Amino acid sequence: MKKYILDLTVTENIRLHSNYVLIKLTQSDPLPEMLPGQFAEIRVDGSNTTFLRRPISINYVDRKANEVWFLVQLVGDGTRKLATVQKGDIVNVVLPLGHGFTIPATPETKVLLVGGGVGTAPMLYLGEALLKTGCKPTFLLGARSANDLLQLEQFGALGDVYTTTEDGSMGEKGYVTMHSVLRERKFDMIYTCGPKPMMMAVAKYAKTADIDCEVSLENTMACGVGACLCCVEKTDEGHVCVCKEGPVFNIKKLLWQI
Ligand SMILES: Cc1cc2nc3c(=O)[nH]c(=O)nc-3n(C[C@H](O)[C@H](O)[C@H](O)COP(=O)(O)OP(=O)(O)OC[C@H]3O[C@@H](n4cnc5c(N)ncnc54)[C@H](O)[C@@H]3O)c2cc1C
Ligand code: FES
Repeated sequence: MKKYILDLTVTENIRLHSNYVLIKLTQSDPLPEMLPGQFAEIRVDGSNTTFLRRPISINYVDRKANEVWFLVQLVGDGTRKLATVQKGDIVNVVLPLGHGFTIPATPETKVLLVGGGVGTAPMLYLGEALLKTGCKPTFLLGARSANDLLQLEQFGALGDVYTTTEDGSMGEKGYVTMHSVLRERKFDMIYTCGPKPMMMAVAKYAKTADIDCEVSLENTMACGVGACLCCVEKTDEGHVCVCKEGPVFNIKKLLWQI
């Protein structure tokens, strides 16, 4: 898919909780096509410490408003600086990057979307894409506590939502792989994004239950286009750049110890 370097304008920067912002960007021309699971490399302007762009998933594309949304967790200098953008500011992005999730061929496919922490970000756009093809998504979202469970209203508008928190402040207490929905309902396909230990646990569950599964890896990235080799992952076809060949992989391709 063709990639674009765009100067987009901030339409909104919503502080969801102390550690998360939702940044909405637009331009006068229609935004290019973007697929669920793809990401953008966002330039962080005005920082003395962050020189490389930061990879952030496409959270949602609002075609009516001609907006692309990015859900950002504030973890270091780059994301903290990015979180200070105001309405009217220009944000330079390279997008769409990487390969997205596979949409099932048949609408009867029972799909489960598992997100952990800010790894829920790509699940919103994916959920909508699945619903458009007739697959009603079920979401299983996990976080440390209720404050880290984001966009629940938007997820609820697309499908059933189940939650877990480590401190038990919302949903079932524990990890996503412990949730009762995994015992009570049958799924044909699982999509997951979040911390690596969570994705490995989900992949292990999927493999044991013989369910097809795609994971979106968040390896450390710099260039985002396969030039610097800093994001490599070992697969059944050798070492590949996650930014170019992924970030979405079927678990069958990965050499994780699961
Ligand atoms: C494909 C992809 C999609 C992502 N989507 C999102 C998203 O939707 N929302 C979100 O909040 N975060 C997302 N991330 C993670 C995000 O890129 C990092 O949190 C961010 O780059 C940290 O930058 P920083 O300057 O704030 O932190 P730093 O001070 O640089 O580091 C803080 C932490 O972030 C990690 N990190 C630093 N640089 C990178 C990097 N270039 N790539 C990956 N991890 C890094 C470090 O290991 C460290 O643990 C995604 C990462 C990838 C690879
Ligand atoms: S980030 Fe440079 S090769 Fe992937």
